Amino acid sequence: MASPAAGVVVIVGSGLIGRSWAMLFASGGFRVKLYDIEQQQVTNALENIRKEMTFLEQSGSLKGSLGAQDQLSLISGCLNIQEAVEGALHIQECVPENLELKKKIFAQLDQIIDDQVVLSSSTSCLLPSQLFAGLAHVQQCLVAHPVNPPYYVPLVELVPHPETAPATVDRTHALMRKIGQSPVRVLKEMDGFVLNRLQYAVISEAWRLVEEGIVSPSDLDLVMSDGLGMRYAFIGPLETMHLNAEGMLSYCDRYSEGMKHVLKTFGPIPEFSGATVEKVNQAMCLKVPADPEHLAARRRWRDECLQRLAKLKRQMPSQ
Ligand SMILES: NC(=O)c1ccc[n+]([C@@H]2O[C@H](COP(=O)([O-])OP(=O)(O)OC[C@H]3O[C@@H](n4cnc5c(N)ncnc54)[C@H](O)[C@@H]3O)[C@@H](O)[C@H]2O)c1
Repeated sequence: MASPAAGVVVIVGSGLIGRSWAMLFASGGFRVKLYDIEQQQVTNALENIRKEMTFLEQSGSLKGSLGAQDQLSLISGCLNIQEAVEGALHIQECVPENLELKKKIFAQLDQIIDDQVVLSSSTSCLLPSQLFAGLAHVQQCLVAHPVNPPYYVPLVELVPHPETAPATVDRTHALMRKIGQSPVRVLKEMDGFVLNRLQYAVISEAWRLVEEGIVSPSDLDLVMSDGLGMRYAFIGPLETMHLNAEGMLSYCDRYSEGMKHVLKTFGPIPEFSGATVEKVNQAMCLKVPADPEHLAARRRWRDECLQRLAKLKRQMPSQ
């Protein structure tokens, strides 16, 4: 674990994701400067982080070796970008998902940063070649895409621009490990990166199965939460293949024809509209009415499940 003098990290944008990054970096002992254009956003973020860290400490789920008070003292708000980036080792951009806005901010940062700092975007789907094109410091730029809620779901996709220096990816990988996250290297940029491509493949087949009347929406979700998802919290689809036969070669030998037969029956990209939306929406609202209170309560429950699962994963030996 890093010492309290581990270095300065700047978070640009103090919304949902910016706050989570701030907590994660503070848990690793880094000094965090939380920058935003809205004073009120910074004030709200600091208050929200204080409450969250106090709760996490009380429930035994606070990350890192420092107590909540020490971690809180590492985070400060900032409304001056020039001051914020001075001496920073890493800048994590977390402004809304808007290409023009992000490009404007990176162009501004490009003018004021030194040759050492890493410039990283939290974007969910904008490509590094769109975000960083033409920047003088392009070698220091990459995407570090977190998964919501990042405090409990540790995966971070690192996606380089074609001109990103390998050292930039290596440094960010090491930094993510230091704050307890689980970084993966996406070797070439690609729409949807990796996580969303897998997620959309699952959503797409789920939709078709409901649309074709093969299964009800609630049973479809159960197939994932009480079936595939149980394994996937610990091993991925490739290791699942390896373990479900006498190794990968044996799995492909035994099951590849069957898999190809099923895969050939997959339908086209769904429209996600019309009667199927009505049907799926009705089933979801029966379980969780789509008003702010019910949705917030269900998200709290989901986060508590993830928090306990994260604890279990930490306790399990890694092999
Ligand atoms: N929310 C998610 O589930 C999620 C998951 C992974 C990645 N992301 C990505 O993270 C990024 C941030 O998403 P979010 O949900 O935290 O957004 P958000 O709307 O909650 O927060 C955005 C913050 O940026 C600030 N901001 C706007 N313009 C700014 C500027 N010029 N300079 C500094 N700050 C500015 C806003 O005041 C606000 O505080 C997006 O790119 C999003 O795609 C989001």
